[in-house]
Amino acid sequence: MDIKVIGVIGAGTMGHGIAQVALQAGFQVLLGDVAKDILEKARSRIAFGLAKGVEKGKFSETQKEEMFKNLTLATTLADFAAADFVIEAVAEDFSIKKDVLGELDRVCRPEVILATNTSSISITKIAATTSRPSRVIGMHFFNPVLLMRLLEIIRGLATEEKTVAVTRQLAERLGKIPVEANDSPGFLANRILIPMINEAIYALMEGVGTAEAIDTVMKLGANHPMGPLALADLVGLDVCLAVLRTLHEGFGDSKYRPCPLLVRMVEAGFLGQKTGRGFYSYEHTRKE
Ligand SMILES: NC(=O)c1ccc[n+]([C@@H]2O[C@H](COP(=O)([O-])OP(=O)(O)OC[C@H]3O[C@@H](n4cnc5c(N)ncnc54)[C@H](O)[C@@H]3O)[C@@H](O)[C@H]2O)c1
Repeated sequence: MDIKVIGVIGAGTMGHGIAQVALQAGFQVLLGDVAKDILEKARSRIAFGLAKGVEKGKFSETQKEEMFKNLTLATTLADFAAADFVIEAVAEDFSIKKDVLGELDRVCRPEVILATNTSSISITKIAATTSRPSRVIGMHFFNPVLLMRLLEIIRGLATEEKTVAVTRQLAERLGKIPVEANDSPGFLANRILIPMINEAIYALMEGVGTAEAIDTVMKLGANHPMGPLALADLVGLDVCLAVLRTLHEGFGDSKYRPCPLLVRMVEAGFLGQKTGRGFYSYEHTRKE
């Protein structure tokens, strides 16, 4: 399959990163978001990210200009008719994904693969909302997309072999290392990671240690590059909560119950780095 134009819908934390990685790999990128301000911000973040690439000697100024020229901001979902492969990175909410995928299914050519970057929602369930379940697949990137090599590939019950093969090839062209996981709540990475983050939040809520103590213990004691609370702030507390709810509902096991402190923080709008406040404060480091 000849993929030239990659459509990325959802231009937040993950979407803008996926778009930049695709631009750097030489693709034309069509980037869309329901919020025009987020879309504009994504364009600036990509420009900033590409300039950093030049600074670090990854590519030349001329190559950077070419990459940036390959970025088009979509004004409506109908623009995605031009895409050869679409990656969905909208909010972790089944009803939103269902509406977006449904619309993409109507506008994209029948052979186009619709990949979802969902962290935990069933690929089979998402695929079933379209008329092309054999060409729907999970393509789970990691944050920050530019740096993280892993890409979980998840097939739904109806996903065909060719879809998996094309997606694996694309993952490699994007410089990622694909690992396959079955369609089970949280797949592999979040099944293991998010309950650990939840446990760290319980330890904080119960006063077993400070945020700094909890993170230091895991950095120095388990050799993790960052502690679970700092990682939760990076991932987004709303995303962590959504994944926990999917695990809790999917397995019906109380061990996945979200920590009340996490629920309260999300209710307060303390979502981590993206809002400037989570378990730590980022007000002084915010670029926007
Ligand atoms: N944050 C992470 O570390 C991480 C890692 C892997 C996967 N994911 C998954 O990636 C997806 C996006 O997460 P994120 O962290 O980038 O969230 P985010 O909140 O930063 O971005 C989501 C974007 O979706 C947009 N959006 C909402 N409804 C839309 C619609 N109807 N049409 C178009 N755009 C719409 C929002 O305006 C927002 O910009 C989620 O499914 C999440 O679970 C997140």
